[in-house]
Amino acid sequence: MRNRMRMVRLNNGVKMPVVGFGTYSDDNDGEITQLAVRQALKMGYRHFDTAKIYGSEPALGKALTEAIADGVIQRKDVFVTSKLWSSDHHDPVSALKQTLDELGLDYIDMYLVHWPVKLKPGVNNPVPEESDFDDLDMENTWYWMEQCLAMGLCRCIGVSNFSTSKLQQLLCFATVPPAVNQVEMHPMWRQRKLREFCRRHRIHVSAYSPLGGPGNYWGSTAVVGHPVVKSIALKHDATPAQVALARGMSRGVSVIVKSFNQRRMKENIGAIEVELDEYDMLEIQRMEEWKIMRGEFLTNQTTSPYRTIQDLWDDEI
Ligand SMILES: NC(=O)c1ccc[n+]([C@@H]2O[C@H](COP(=O)([O-])OP(=O)(O)OC[C@H]3O[C@@H](n4cnc5c(N)ncnc54)[C@H](OP(=O)(O)O)[C@@H]3O)[C@@H](O)[C@H]2O)c1
Repeated sequence: MRNRMRMVRLNNGVKMPVVGFGTYSDDNDGEITQLAVRQALKMGYRHFDTAKIYGSEPALGKALTEAIADGVIQRKDVFVTSKLWSSDHHDPVSALKQTLDELGLDYIDMYLVHWPVKLKPGVNNPVPEESDFDDLDMENTWYWMEQCLAMGLCRCIGVSNFSTSKLQQLLCFATVPPAVNQVEMHPMWRQRKLREFCRRHRIHVSAYSPLGGPGNYWGSTAVVGHPVVKSIALKHDATPAQVALARGMSRGVSVIVKSFNQRRMKENIGAIEVELDEYDMLEIQRMEEWKIMRGEFLTNQTTSPYRTIQDLWDDEI
């Protein structure tokens, strides 16, 4: 079993494994997810990413509690991230308690505000209707996120899908600054401005869809199929996926990558060993940029705070 998982130290001193195992899948089959997590633990993955809206909390929780009961791991050796869904902004404490019930855990390591969007209570549709939106009050949401932390329900709090402007606003009223901003990042969406802002404010950037989500209903093969990525892979006797992951890690970010296929799971964790050189970095820097998860489903002309995706990302798209 691999036991050399690299860690990053967050702004509150907590250490987080740099490779996270994503648990979102279009099918959301509990048994498949549970099996994949058990296999991932054997391979050395120690960071698991879930969210209420993925429906994967129960399967992840079962796999972790079984592994803890079997003595495969101790609770303190795994890092679990989950997320506040947009219809729970009115009560993050109750939402996190429900997440803990689903996972069968006493605490999680990281709780993230999934999107800077508030929906009416009870809306569990990942693609909301116009009538589902509510008025966003991030100051109130963040206050209750801080209470989650104070109550010991989680060890860290953070955000996801926040632009630099939205982070800047949050920092104006936050007593506890976010430890992490989890955003889309890969060789075709490099987040230079956001990474620079986060570096200055000691907010760690975590990359979701680090392969561009090939095979997801909304994802693309553009990243792993890109000729530049493929040629760098060939040069290092690595795979395109490993190049994408290694590039993320070399930029100081952690990567949250999903595969439920044993061969690809091994391949992905093996990216820790892949070292790219400055020439590779320059080649990637020259690639065209393309944001794949654009968030159109959270914009509308009437009820959303964002009329367009430019509003949602504050022109950082
Ligand atoms: N915060 C957010 O808003 C947000 C948004 C999206 C995702 N996430 C999190 O980030 C995780 C990862 O993102 P993602 O699932 O969208 O994208 P991803 O990790 O970039 O891609 C996953 C897809 O790539 C395939 N794949 C995995 N390894 C591969 C490899 N080595 N070569 C070729 N294909 C490979 C997987 O299929 P197989 O399973 O068949 O290998 C799956 O279809 C999610 O599971 C979720 O936990 C967060």
